[in-house]
Amino acid sequence: MNKNFILKGNFVYCNEKKELVICENSYGICVDGVSGGIYKEIPEKFQNLEIIDYGNRLILPGLVDLHVHGPQYGFRGVGFDCELIEWLNTHTFPVESQFGNEDYAKKAYKIFADDLKNSATTRAVIFGTIHENSTRILMELLEETGLKTYVGKVNMDRNAPEYYMEDSTEKSVQDTIRFIEEAQKNFKNTKPIITPRFIPTCTDELMKKLAELKRKYHLPMQSHLSENRGEIEWVKELCPWAECYGDAYDECGILEGKYSSIMAHCVSSTDEEVELLKEREVFVAHCPKSNLNLMSGIAPIRKYMEKEIPIGLGSDVAGGETLSIFEEMAKAIQVSKMYWRYVDEQCRPLTVPEALFLATRGGGAFFGKVGSFEEGFEFDAIVIDDSQIKTQLDLTLTERLERIVYSSGQCKLIAKTVGGKKIFAD
Ligand code: GUN
Ligand code: FE
Repeated sequence: MNKNFILKGNFVYCNEKKELVICENSYGICVDGVSGGIYKEIPEKFQNLEIIDYGNRLILPGLVDLHVHGPQYGFRGVGFDCELIEWLNTHTFPVESQFGNEDYAKKAYKIFADDLKNSATTRAVIFGTIHENSTRILMELLEETGLKTYVGKVNMDRNAPEYYMEDSTEKSVQDTIRFIEEAQKNFKNTKPIITPRFIPTCTDELMKKLAELKRKYHLPMQSHLSENRGEIEWVKELCPWAECYGDAYDECGILEGKYSSIMAHCVSSTDEEVELLKEREVFVAHCPKSNLNLMSGIAPIRKYMEKEIPIGLGSDVAGGETLSIFEEMAKAIQVSKMYWRYVDEQCRPLTVPEALFLATRGGGAFFGKVGSFEEGFEFDAIVIDDSQIKTQLDLTLTERLERIVYSSGQCKLIAKTVGGKKIFAD
């Protein structure tokens, strides 16, 4: 596989300070899957590389989905007239329980993997179900796409319906060990991640054992935190000893290891919980579409950004109704405007460059040097044709980026590369 080439086009990405870097009509160098930088003229030493010319199109870093549920893809856009816990019981658990059947899982996960492959997402962190075999099927299908992902077998040993709960804490742990060892042996681009669903469905004993596995196998962890008010009250009842919801995880040791945990939502985190996230360097997966659909609220992302908490965006499908991270960018900006208007005038709305940062470098940091075209970053690129948003105006690249964010549905994704590997191209 040739991972040495040059893309030509209009490059737009973010620097470390969340500012746009615009390189009009330039050459992006990819050597061994890593960016060699963006240039106006091709440097002498790269002159023999193949050039793929994308003309006047925009080339952005691939987008990162820091939180998505593979098995929920089939009912995206259905059942949003209820809040989280009712939605889990009426829509989510009945569908996820079907994945005990491997034929069902193959059919459902094929649709998910194909659509993720064809989306603007280059990297994703994904929940499976409690089933070890089906989650392995998901990983096999994802490995074929060429995308780079983390996938977790979900753990739940309490407060779930009998038809969708693990038989015992011990079985949950044993299945997880097998899942981890198989995954580490068989896949290159698809890595295992420890995945306790959330505090209400995991006993302290299970959480402690998962923390041990996290340490032993040097794995990251993903879960949910402070998404919904009813959920938060429930956690107070279940863990009266915890100082906040996040502390219920932390006391079990599962947040140990900097930059190794992702918590989805953090809509209603207390000041104390925010300090904990900062101290443990936990990634917040901001999922604004899901938070709107399930009436969860608005996460104060400006506040988290000012504290330099690591943040990325998540589709949270099926909480979010599509896999589009462009739509999450637009919604992140829009809900931040309402938060500023109605809740706290100290929290300035997010800007387009900041939203691009969250969708690329922000979530990309969970994967290493990902989300930029600066020299040394893994070469993840998407090429966007925006010519169908017709206008008589002669727009700048900054303006075209803004249109792409707000009107991504009218744009065409014409090529995608992950770590220098071509996923598809027109
Ligand atoms: N909390 C626990 N499970 C889930 C889930 O599947 N989706 C969302 N949005 N929140 C959760
Ligand atoms: Fe979720």
